[in-house]
Amino acid sequence: MKALITGATSGIGMSIARKLRRRGWELILTGRNEAMLKQLKYELGDTEVITADLSDRNDVFKVYEFCKDKNIDLLVNNAGYGIFGRFEQTDLEDELRMIDVNITAVHILTKLFLRDFKRRDHGMILNVASSAGFMTGPLLSSYYASKNYVVRLSLAIAEELRRDKSNVSITILCPGPVDTNFNNRAGVNFSVKPITADFAAEYAIRKTFEGQLIAIPGFSMRAGVFASRFVPYKLMSAITYGIQHRKKSSEGKGKAALS
Ligand SMILES: NC(=O)c1ccc[n+]([C@@H]2O[C@H](COP(=O)([O-])OP(=O)(O)OC[C@H]3O[C@@H](n4cnc5c(N)ncnc54)[C@H](OP(=O)(O)O)[C@@H]3O)[C@@H](O)[C@H]2O)c1
Repeated sequence: MKALITGATSGIGMSIARKLRRRGWELILTGRNEAMLKQLKYELGDTEVITADLSDRNDVFKVYEFCKDKNIDLLVNNAGYGIFGRFEQTDLEDELRMIDVNITAVHILTKLFLRDFKRRDHGMILNVASSAGFMTGPLLSSYYASKNYVVRLSLAIAEELRRDKSNVSITILCPGPVDTNFNNRAGVNFSVKPITADFAAEYAIRKTFEGQLIAIPGFSMRAGVFASRFVPYKLMSAITYGIQHRKKSSEGKGKAALS
């Protein structure tokens, strides 16, 4: 069995890579960090790597071209990051790059691999979204919105697959805070205790293999996402804003309630 994992150089993606390798999977790993990819190739064995910046559409297609004749069984769309700040103040170019990684690359790879998987009537897609994908997130607005896109796109695809009685499955991983490099990159701290990347990865792999559609690691986060369904939109935005705004530190960094 063979998996392509984006964002495999750190955090949840790296943990998924190690866990799949331990189960005997062959891997294709990608990220921008070439040194880390080389290290993982050496450490894990039976692993191919391809350096790619997924904010560049050409690199996204390059990754697909590299993989398309290699009989991938599992696509893990994991690469992603967040940008913290008031919407009118965050840098437009940074945000457009984030949208390219969090949305466009996920969209392209999901479509191209789904076509191949459907032709073979075999394959699994694991899209790493976030619990933020069910909510509105003032102060991390574009990030939350990008994860909403991943959730909604994946849910729609799942229904099309169900109606086709397809053997192809799609799973959406929606964790709350996870202890990774995410915080450093977004310039935030979490206000609740994060789960580990290993915990999130193990849960994600288990639920993907079970063919479960939505995978939310941790009982309290599952309960939180469920409860959020009954909160009116404006109240949800006010609560999220309040939590995040209150947690701003004196250095001007914020703390995100959910990521
Ligand atoms: N940590 C959390 O609290 C949390 C919660 C919910 C969901 N998530 C989601 O989980 C996923 C993984 O994040 P993480 O928490 O594991 O964070 P992380 O440790 O920062 O890992 C992010 C990964 O994405 C890759 N990446 C970022 N920008 C990229 C680009 N332009 N091109 C290619 N790869 C890129 C990074 O690789 P390079 O640096 O090598 O490019 C890295 O491997 C993300 O989609 C994130 O939104 C995280």
